[in-house]
Amino acid sequence: MKYRKFGNTGLKVSEIGFGAWAIGGSWGDQREQDSLEALETALDRGVNFIDTAAGYGNGKSERIIGEFLKSRSETVYVCTKTPPAEGKWPPSPYCRIEERYSEKYLRENVEERLSKLQIESLDVLLLHTWTRAWNDRPIALEILQKMKSEGLIKQIGISTPEHDQNCVIQLMRDGMVDVLQVIYNIFEQEPAAQLFPVAVETGTGIIVRVAFDEGVLTGKYTGNETFGPGDFRSNYFAGDRLERGVKRTEKIKKEFQKSAYSMPELALKFALTHEAVSTVIPGIRNRNQAVQNTAISELPEISEDMMLRLQDHSWNRGFWYGGK
Ligand SMILES: NC(=O)c1ccc[n+]([C@@H]2O[C@H](COP(=O)([O-])OP(=O)(O)OC[C@H]3O[C@@H](n4cnc5c(N)ncnc54)[C@H](OP(=O)(O)O)[C@@H]3O)[C@@H](O)[C@H]2O)c1
Repeated sequence: MKYRKFGNTGLKVSEIGFGAWAIGGSWGDQREQDSLEALETALDRGVNFIDTAAGYGNGKSERIIGEFLKSRSETVYVCTKTPPAEGKWPPSPYCRIEERYSEKYLRENVEERLSKLQIESLDVLLLHTWTRAWNDRPIALEILQKMKSEGLIKQIGISTPEHDQNCVIQLMRDGMVDVLQVIYNIFEQEPAAQLFPVAVETGTGIIVRVAFDEGVLTGKYTGNETFGPGDFRSNYFAGDRLERGVKRTEKIKKEFQKSAYSMPELALKFALTHEAVSTVIPGIRNRNQAVQNTAISELPEISEDMMLRLQDHSWNRGFWYGGK
């Protein structure tokens, strides 16, 4: 496993981190034994960064991680997230920051994160979502900075809202965040335009999420899969979305079939190729996925020519008329 600088935090994080959403729930059946084996295998192979959130199984993912880490002696950084208090998700432009992230609410929520993880100080706390409506008066981040000075949190940041990831650019320039969590994959390449260059310029650590586009970029789907009602993919891949994702993935597969990389390898290596990226956190839910995904760090880098060709596969789904 290779390690990278985590922005200006002074930490070194593993290129492959552990995405711990599925081990908390919302991804169909998940046996706790599989979750524990996945964590054990990932850490044995050098993973030192785990991403979780209050919302992953209502604290279940955090609880499993907290319990599991008591059996390990190496340094592992855990990143967790506080959602805004009840209301619209994503927050609307009219939501008031005082109502969604009040000091009382943030303090109580951070206490709960500490208790679920069974630790005294959080390595990384991210606000689980944001709106640019709060950029000029980001008081929630000021409260987190206060908690940082009190020792309750070590690094703070935001997980970008998927419809407006660039809303955090101003916050980086204003020195309000240490790290960010961003969607970046072969389809979603917009962060390369400005968000990543500003992260490099400001020394903001970047965690990449959803590098497999929720599984489709692993190349294993045929388009005929169905997901149960409790599985968030039944909504993410609703209508013809899975079929369209699979069609585009098949094109990539065909174009790169003679390369040395499988689709999961190509997807993770693509995300790791940008210099702004510190760690990529594929979702991992069993031992096999832990073995396969961690091994990708040591593979040769993707050539410049391949990167140029992969750039052609970016797919802007943010427009009504685009990508149809
Ligand atoms: N901040 C946020 O709002 C937010 C949102 C989404 C995710 N995240 C974080 O980012 C992490 C990663 O995103 P994600 O888990 O949503 O999606 P992802 O990484 O794009 O896809 C993960 C899924 O792909 C499958 N998979 C993993 N490795 C594989 C391999 N080597 N071969 C074939 N299939 C493989 C697994 O599902 P199956 O085994 O079921 O196929 C896994 O759950 C999450 O776990 C979470 O920590 C954060």
